[in-house]
Amino acid sequence: MGIPIVFVASLVFLFASQRFPCTGQQIDIEARRLSDGVDSEKLREYLRRLTQAPHVAGTEEELDTAIYVRDKFLEFGLDSVKIVPYDVLLSYPDRERPNTIHILDGTGESVFSTLGYEEPLFAPEESSPRVFPTFSAYSAPGEPIGDLVYACYGRREDFQYLLSQGISAEGKIVLARYGMSFRGNIVKFAMEYGAIGVILYSDPKEYAPYGEDFVYPDSEYMPDMAVQSGTVMLANGDPTTPQWPSVPGAYRIPEAEADLPDIPVQPIGYREARILLENLAGVQAPPEWQGALNVTYRLGPGFAQPNWKVKMEVRTRNEMATVHNVIGILHGSVEPDRYVILGNHRDAWVFGAVDPSSGTASLLEIARLYGEAALEGNRPRRTLIFCSWGAEEYGLVGSLEWVEEHANVLADRAVINLNVDISVSGNRTLSPSGCPLTYQSLYTTTKSVGNPNPDEIAAGRPTVFHTWLHNFPSEDPDVPQVGNLGSGSDYAPFIHFLGIPSIDMSYIGTEEGDYALYHSLYETFHLVDYILDRGFTYMKGLTQVWIELADHYANSVLIPFDVRDYGKFLRRQAQDFSNTFETQLQEHGISLELWWSAIDNVISAADFFHGEHQGSLNLENPYEVRRFNDELMAVERVFIDSMIQSDARHLIYKPSSSDTYRGEVFGSLVDLLLAADPDWEKVKKGVSVVAHMIQSAANVLMGSLNTRGF
Ligand SMILES: *[C@@H]1O[C@H](CO)[C@@H](O)[C@H](O)[C@H]1NC(C)=O
Ligand SMILES: *[C@@H]1O[C@H](CO)[C@@H](O)[C@H](O)[C@H]1NC(C)=O
Ligand SMILES: [Zn+2]
Repeated sequence: MGIPIVFVASLVFLFASQRFPCTGQQIDIEARRLSDGVDSEKLREYLRRLTQAPHVAGTEEELDTAIYVRDKFLEFGLDSVKIVPYDVLLSYPDRERPNTIHILDGTGESVFSTLGYEEPLFAPEESSPRVFPTFSAYSAPGEPIGDLVYACYGRREDFQYLLSQGISAEGKIVLARYGMSFRGNIVKFAMEYGAIGVILYSDPKEYAPYGEDFVYPDSEYMPDMAVQSGTVMLANGDPTTPQWPSVPGAYRIPEAEADLPDIPVQPIGYREARILLENLAGVQAPPEWQGALNVTYRLGPGFAQPNWKVKMEVRTRNEMATVHNVIGILHGSVEPDRYVILGNHRDAWVFGAVDPSSGTASLLEIARLYGEAALEGNRPRRTLIFCSWGAEEYGLVGSLEWVEEHANVLADRAVINLNVDISVSGNRTLSPSGCPLTYQSLYTTTKSVGNPNPDEIAAGRPTVFHTWLHNFPSEDPDVPQVGNLGSGSDYAPFIHFLGIPSIDMSYIGTEEGDYALYHSLYETFHLVDYILDRGFTYMKGLTQVWIELADHYANSVLIPFDVRDYGKFLRRQAQDFSNTFETQLQEHGISLELWWSAIDNVISAADFFHGEHQGSLNLENPYEVRRFNDELMAVERVFIDSMIQSDARHLIYKPSSSDTYRGEVFGSLVDLLLAADPDWEKVKKGVSVVAHMIQSAANVLMGSLNTRGF
């Protein structure tokens, strides 16, 4: 029998101080949990403050929120708190001349124009003159005129369908609906198919499912002039410094070479989209393409009235601006050079009450509890780094620049990145994504947090874990599904660029985790306070899970990663991959044999590691403990391919090429295989590199160079 691992997640005060550098010992004191101290009233107060003004990246109001967060971190007692600025290329509309879309009649006169901004409906702050006109960040400026084509969700298959109907997007302006993929992917496909402009809109079918009368401010659904803003850049980070940090004096590529869309893009609401749709000519769109507007959706091209055209007037421009991360550090008492990172972005498209300010409120409350505990002499074993990122909305800009600047130190020292972008967008269930190494920690911690929903408790689901399991069952009846990490928030640079295990989570209201008012003017304090989370109980629950996870990783003597789940994950994913591509691979003489043996080796190495090896550890010997933890930290890192010239260097998961939000397992290979004419030599090489990396994970766990039995 080995010595059991001692998780001290719930005993932070007892084991964290210098007096107990190792924690085999039992101490008979009533355990207090930091997470019990989470205060809903305080969460509400932070959120009210954070959402009083729009805080778009690079604006004075964004800096104001940075100063607020810095001052709070200092007040709470963190050891070191700094605002870390970067000068980066952002994008803004013209405040004086909003972007518009027109229908031109045969003489070129405008017979219809869009407004260019969202109408104030309820909360006083909605009327603030500091609210920008609506825009898609990094849209090219321009005034294209052309025929309109309706491309449904703007996925590759939608453009293919249009072609199959004899309709090309070439030289046309595309009207596409939000809802199935990241908007940057929609724009990229539109460009590939030759479009000269893209108009994005939100259809009531997805965004006002209970009708146009049951919308904000009475409900969480979209009124007809609500507009989803957002970036349409597919790359991440400052576009002028790909893969290196935007520090003073850094080399910058010319803007023309930056990886940015080169056509105008503009989002509108469904009141205005209706006018475009009801004038469209062409055949009726198929039933799956019909939305909930009271019009017959047609494909186009062009309008029913001969010679009518659509014209976009887009004045969105790229501009250098300064963005601000706030980095607060609480030094660990035993292992100050091991970092547990808690991250959330701070910049918003408008007031951002859900995205990201709900997460910022949670982060502040966690900083308060840890800071106050530290002032009382109770520090975590490892260092906590509280990161309030700037300019996430533009493309993970603040976090990626920081990760690039500190890549070497982070690669050596970061244990985990716990990211919460949105803490609450609904009251249905927790929805976490994470690396397989973190699954067990998610199960353990969510079982220790009481269910914020009394109806769920009454239904026999007493903890956050139970509701999660109920909503997202997996093949194993005892454990819920954990999502794969795609992109779309600040965990991405950590996992995809450096191989630092990460978790991202929120409390959500729908199975997909989306919410109708996302990135609109109406993401106000009212929305959270009155509609989504009255009493802030769900935000409290999420905050408690976040603290429990932080405790788990900051205080457990042995880092609570479990490699056995990685083995199972790889076997399952490799099986899926093989089922999909085996025939094609065989036809080209490519075998997955090396994968299967490498995966078997990971599985047996993981069993040895968590069994015999862990059992024989002397937990009183800090060198043995450190070595064990170092080996655990190395596992995820082996999957980083430093030859890849991109911030997506992880060979197991990758943001999907058709939807950046989604994580694609073996994504680089999937991309190669889905190409119209796959490069089989590249596939062969890719399969071999993945096999080598999986084997490396096994080697790391065996802690020996003698992996082939010599
Ligand atoms: C839909 O439009 C038609 C024709 O414009 C109109 O007669 C009908 O009343 C509308 N229905 C609704 C529910 O608005
Ligand atoms: C959950 O949220 C919905 C609105 O999305 C609301 O109607 C319902 O009452 C809430 N349930 C609980 C238990 O808070
Ligand atoms: Zn966000």
